[in-house]
Amino acid sequence: MNLTPEEQSMLAGGQGEAVRTAMEILAALGRIYGARRMIPAGSVQIAGVSYDNLGDAGLEWLTEMADGGGRARVPAALNPAGMDLKNWRALGIPADFADKQQRVIAAFTRMGVTPTCTCTPYLAGFLPAAGESIAWAESSAVCYANSVIGARTNREGGPSALAAALTGRTPEYGMHLEKNRRPDLTVEVRARLSDTSDFGALGKVIGERVEALGRRAVPWIRGVDTAATLEQLKSLCASAATFGGLAMFHIPGITPESAAHAPPEEAVAVTEEELRAARESLNDRSAAETDFVSLGCPHLSLHEVERIARLVDGKRTAKEFWITTSRPVKREADRLGYTKTIERSGAKFAVDTCCVVAPIRGRFRTMATDSAKACYYAASKNRMATRFLDFDSVVAEALVK
Ligand code: F3S
Repeated sequence: MNLTPEEQSMLAGGQGEAVRTAMEILAALGRIYGARRMIPAGSVQIAGVSYDNLGDAGLEWLTEMADGGGRARVPAALNPAGMDLKNWRALGIPADFADKQQRVIAAFTRMGVTPTCTCTPYLAGFLPAAGESIAWAESSAVCYANSVIGARTNREGGPSALAAALTGRTPEYGMHLEKNRRPDLTVEVRARLSDTSDFGALGKVIGERVEALGRRAVPWIRGVDTAATLEQLKSLCASAATFGGLAMFHIPGITPESAAHAPPEEAVAVTEEELRAARESLNDRSAAETDFVSLGCPHLSLHEVERIARLVDGKRTAKEFWITTSRPVKREADRLGYTKTIERSGAKFAVDTCCVVAPIRGRFRTMATDSAKACYYAASKNRMATRFLDFDSVVAEALVK
């Protein structure tokens, strides 16, 4: 790899221990993936924030990096943590876990990383420009950034994202290169899509199709209404990344880079029947009664929070109901009165966190959600059965009948 004199100085330890470690990580990645050089990373989103995933070894490493003088050189945010950093007691998070989680956040904060913990950084003040190279880590955010925004990012791991923050660099390979962003599979959607959950089901079908191909793919998705909303697209990104590892897709009339390409010849179709089967596969009708309801995977937009407020206004919840979003969105919800309406119903905001990364295994049996991704991890990580419903039905499921 060709390193500039400044990058060589970083690698030689001339800018401190933490920067040396960071540049070693990036140089090793660059060598593995055949990168020729480093490029500037405009912003960074760091995953591996929940103490539930990091454990003591992760906390120790972050503390060492902070002690070693690591300081973010570009705007950097965090993926969701294992708890609401303020309201963790109300969510039933144990005090010893909270203590460790706060120490993780403190280490990041010492390194100048903004403690905004969200998988929708683009809704929380971290909106990259089209064509900008960034180093983000969370899979739905990566897919959204590449596809919908037109920014360029690989899916970073926790250490490589932190390394990008501390150096302001990322190796140029993968999704940073034009040749890897070209569509190579046409997906013809022959089904009606309306709710966010429909887009989640579509992402599952497309993701599984790509998995079955046994190669990476950048689908060209035809048949999606150009009026698709931000919320529908973030749902599609989350499940396409979860079920097929997709880092990018094109939708003509919606995604910015689609105009530069023609539909690939290799084509598959997605039918109404396949979408219905995908929905059914996530909806366990034989499961015990729902005892946990969660909306906000990926984190909710302000528009979705407003919709929840309208649906619960004057009603009471009968079940544990988490509203997961970022702190900047929650602040706006406070200002606009949505928070009061929602909390009056008994629903709880779970800011900075989500139903997947919080330590809730064993607390609940059956979760209702509109997110295909949340269903996948509820089953595989938290051993819960799932009810996969449309957005309004999820809210209804939480309310006193
Ligand atoms: Fe975000 Fe957690 Fe879902 S990180 S995409 S809300 S699993």
